[in-house]
Amino acid sequence: MHSHSIIILDFGSQTTQLIARRIREQKVYSEIHPYTLPLAKLKELRPAGIILSGGPASVYDEDAPLSDPGLFNMGVPVLGICYGAQLMTQQLGGRVERAEKREFGKAELRISETAGLFSGLEAKPAHHQVWMSHGDRVEALAPGFIAIADTEHSPYAALRHQEKPFVAVQFHPEVAHTLIGTDILRNFIFGICGCDASWTMQSFIESTVAAVREKVGSDRVICALSGGVDSTVVAAMIHRAIGSQLTCIHVNNGLMRTNESAGVLRFFRERTDLQVIDIDAEAYFLERLKGIADPEEKRKRIGYGFIEIFEQEAKKLGQVKYLAQGTLYPDVIESVVFRGKAPIKSHHNVGGLPERMHLALIEPLRELFKDEVRELGLELGLPEEAIFRQPFPGPGLGIRIMGEITAERLRIVRQADVIVLEEMKQSGWYRKVWQSFAVLLPIQTVGVMGDGRTYEHVIALRSVDSRDAMTADWSQLPYDLLGRISTRIINEVRGVNRVVYDISSKPPSTIEWE
Ligand code: XMP
Repeated sequence: MHSHSIIILDFGSQTTQLIARRIREQKVYSEIHPYTLPLAKLKELRPAGIILSGGPASVYDEDAPLSDPGLFNMGVPVLGICYGAQLMTQQLGGRVERAEKREFGKAELRISETAGLFSGLEAKPAHHQVWMSHGDRVEALAPGFIAIADTEHSPYAALRHQEKPFVAVQFHPEVAHTLIGTDILRNFIFGICGCDASWTMQSFIESTVAAVREKVGSDRVICALSGGVDSTVVAAMIHRAIGSQLTCIHVNNGLMRTNESAGVLRFFRERTDLQVIDIDAEAYFLERLKGIADPEEKRKRIGYGFIEIFEQEAKKLGQVKYLAQGTLYPDVIESVVFRGKAPIKSHHNVGGLPERMHLALIEPLRELFKDEVRELGLELGLPEEAIFRQPFPGPGLGIRIMGEITAERLRIVRQADVIVLEEMKQSGWYRKVWQSFAVLLPIQTVGVMGDGRTYEHVIALRSVDSRDAMTADWSQLPYDLLGRISTRIINEVRGVNRVVYDISSKPPSTIEWE
């Protein structure tokens, strides 16, 4: 499907995803695979170019991650980045050693050859800022290679083979601090690999619509529609492909924001042609959650409750073969990150549903990053108000109330949430941050209101900046905005006498509190 794609082999660098993004921004399709991808599979993908990513290991370690050196015989251009550059050097007969001086951060690159990878860039004595992050370095070039740039500490900061289309850089072109990074990647994908800038959202829609039609045939598809960006875009995409063979189901699990379900349903009825079945399961969920304080147990009960309701509805519809789901690329990348593999929290969108109901999955957004999903939504004609909504977790406010979920606690967190949303929108910050919300801490602290002493709950305000929720930092919101939110919550929400701002990043914290 993607005849002009760039395949990135991941060796565990924290910036591997960025390489894919930078390339897609140039309208060239790019996909990440673990470095262990078998050579036969790699060949099947018929890449126009291969990139070997950076990574934390050393090529001379006993258990160093090694890709199949056969990839150098495919006749396909290869770009090695950092660890990838060292691996290329070593596998092709050069030598890599631990550098006397490790290089982290900015360095000044001096280019000695302004063709190929550095086409259009200024040569020595000009300096270009690049971003380094390595402890090893190339000591002896592999046969056939020459250096095409250096820095103060790296005589071999960039290399190329004299006959074959192999290039390597010791620095990271994908990060913003490498000011000439985009030029370098463009030179690689267009100049060296000969890619076309043909991967546009329009072309993505066309190929996806065709693929969905072919897969579904005359069967029926259901889609759980929360009103969030991903499920809305999935539904619009599938609807474009198969029209009335799609039925959407919106479940109000009682853990939605104020007027959320009504607003979502109104939107779909007034602004789209989608068929949406509306299930009010508020009482059912709250009953199941009675007395449950453990966060994992809460998530499980919400997830399973959802499955049960969905199962009942699908039975009523009869003859459903597929479930459409808004799985995104960050969820499917088999990243080689050398962190623990255990899930930190169980995410219950519709997890468990497909097996139990014997449904096959359709995941048309599997290849996209969140910002690409938004672009796709706009391209599909969805209004901005639906596309630029902040993400909202499947278990809803249930994971924003610490401890047991009760009607009274839901009231408090809902009222606080409305205030946070209003103030974020009014100040223009809503779209600048990834997520912003209120969390209820049902502990009591002492306060003084009027002439009396109070002993009431705490609201924690959480606002984070992120690109894909894998990492996040707390948002540097203006003090006056924080002040306004705090004052309004304390004045308007009965039962709260204190507001705190969460200044933790992810990792080590998470975005949601539970
Ligand atoms: P964490 O809290 O893991 O959240 O840093 C990362 C992103 O995922 C959202 N989130 C969820 N979404 N079901 C969902 O559909 C869940 O159970 C869930 N838990 C967290 C969270 O809002 C953030 O965007």
